[in-house]
Amino acid sequence: MTNAEAADAYDCMIGQMRMAYGKSGNATAASYTGWRRYSEVSYQSSTHGERYVQNYANATGRAYGAFEKAGVMPVGSILAKDSFGVNGKGSVTVGPMFMMEKMPAGFNADSGNWKYTMIMPNGSVFGVTNAKNSSGMQFCIECHAAVAEEQDHMMFLPEEYRTQ
Ligand code: HEC
Repeated sequence: MTNAEAADAYDCMIGQMRMAYGKSGNATAASYTGWRRYSEVSYQSSTHGERYVQNYANATGRAYGAFEKAGVMPVGSILAKDSFGVNGKGSVTVGPMFMMEKMPAGFNADSGNWKYTMIMPNGSVFGVTNAKNSSGMQFCIECHAAVAEEQDHMMFLPEEYRTQ
């Protein structure tokens, strides 16, 4: 997909994504579309199932917009990443929502006190760090830990898709 096609697909999907994630009852899932977005357009993420994703942060997490200079994020920062997939025939479907929420010290040393959540397209919660299916969420922690020290576990998006 070109960027223009990805933008059109996103406009078409945003209502469906929000409704799908909202079924989980998760507060972020219901409100993230009102937050600031830090990607210009959906981009394909090989590390999140080849889906097209966008990145949002709540007001507490606004330092996300400084990217590599963000430092250690304050408790209460929430980063939300919605996604859609495109199949070989060009039809577009809702993908999971990926979330990270900064928790107080002592929550989980391995995750840098980030709570990872994944919400499935049918609104069910696949897993939450230190709660439902926590072991199934370990792979999120492990990959993001590659930048634990220097970037507080945040990977950031490719430069060409960042908002200025
Ligand atoms: C194999 C590595 C890998 C795995 C596994 C992974 N991520 Fe990521 N994650 C990344 C990369 C790379 C980025 C930034 C680029 C992108 O979006 O593709 C990212 C970005 C994010 C972001 C935006 C904040 C940031 O770090 O910039 C969130 C939220 C996120 N991932 C949540 C999750 C959750 C939840 C899981 C587990 C269900 C998960 N990730 C699994 C590599 C990974």
